Amino acid sequence: MSERNGRSGARDLALDGLQKVFRRRGQGEVAAVAGIDLDVAEGELLGLLGPSGCGKSTTLRMIAGLEAPSGGDIRIGGASIVGRPPHRRDVAVAFENYALYPPLTVAENIAFGMRARKEPDAAARAREVAERLGIVDLLGRKPGALSSGQKQRVSLARAIVRRPSVLLLDEPLSHLDAAERDQTRRELKRLQRETGYTTVLVTHDQHEALSLADRVAVMDAGRLLQVGTPDEVYDAPANRFVADFVGEPRMNLLAGRILPGTPTGVFLSDQVHLLLPGLAGLPEHGAGGERAVIVGIRPQDIRLGPAADPGALPATVFAHEPLQEVGRLTLTLPGVATRIVVETHHDLVAARDEAVGLRFDPARTHLFDAETGERLAWSPNRPQNPSPSAPSRPLSRATSSS
Ligand SMILES: Nc1ncnc2c1ncn2[C@@H]1O[C@H](COP(=O)(O)OP(=O)(O)O)[C@@H](O)[C@H]1O
Ligand SMILES: [Mg+2]
Repeated sequence: MSERNGRSGARDLALDGLQKVFRRRGQGEVAAVAGIDLDVAEGELLGLLGPSGCGKSTTLRMIAGLEAPSGGDIRIGGASIVGRPPHRRDVAVAFENYALYPPLTVAENIAFGMRARKEPDAAARAREVAERLGIVDLLGRKPGALSSGQKQRVSLARAIVRRPSVLLLDEPLSHLDAAERDQTRRELKRLQRETGYTTVLVTHDQHEALSLADRVAVMDAGRLLQVGTPDEVYDAPANRFVADFVGEPRMNLLAGRILPGTPTGVFLSDQVHLLLPGLAGLPEHGAGGERAVIVGIRPQDIRLGPAADPGALPATVFAHEPLQEVGRLTLTLPGVATRIVVETHHDLVAARDEAVGLRFDPARTHLFDAETGERLAWSPNRPQNPSPSAPSRPLSRATSSS
């Protein structure tokens, strides 16, 4: 978009103890949003990420003025907007369900807000955004003649073209097919950068959040669990929920115990002891009791080697899925109920029931408190028995077929 849409209009957005309680007949109260503090900087793209029903849309609707908060404050550029009607908030929304005007053409839908404000270049700007989002051929059509993916891009164009201080996008790519989604995601990122709109993008798709956002806010059951850059959220998940929700394939999460007599590692079962250099330094660990933890390790951070490797965990191949770019191996450890998934080099050959050895990259092994789920801070800074320099991917091809 052109100079006219420069950054001057963007403002920062602040949520302060924001709450929404719904009262439902027979079910009592539901705290859809249970007190959220969040600052979105001027021009920032914040991804609000969480599972269905966690309160993302309700949060967005409160910012847009479509839902009144039960408590807390919303500020744009420092000024509270709570109580202001939606059209006086300088906020544009692209809803998941489009909310287009059926009797108007696509061009008229996109330009609607600008026309209402008698902006002279409405048609030209509508066309420009439509081009960027790949819907310029549709400008003369009515919404009834569009696919759901096309309607969604029209809704997105209408929000972007308005030059709001704050742009709110609710699952903006959810109705697009895979090819449209990739293309629209890239275009959306460029448009957001060029326009500099302060943007909140709601999504349940961790890949979308991580690839688009400057920072990601992970939400569950009405609460924010972690706010950080995509790298921070991926590399150091604040708790078990975030660890499980972010990343594909999912992080392996294994129950384990740290025993007072053996504080140098985690027992994943009576037979399997995972040595973790530096673990003895784990705070609040010296109390003398046994400690229940969850060990987290991503499938990309496990190295596969021969069963004879004395420093590796003994594992047995349960299933091998040779995908095109990578392979995915599911394995069992003796006495451990949870199966482990390892991402492998694509041309690895593994036989069912084959015995192998697994090495976890200690720097990428996460620990969580089994009760609270919170991340336990420890660091493998004193390697006693350094493992061979461990690239995080791909894995070795050492395992021969049998
Ligand atoms: N108008 C409403 N009345 C009652 N409950 C609602 C209403 N809107 C949302 N909820 C409830 O609030 C919770 C959060 O919903 P929502 O914000 O739509 O979640 P998300 O967008 O993350 O999927 C859900 O339990 C939902 O059922
Ligand atoms: Mg929603």
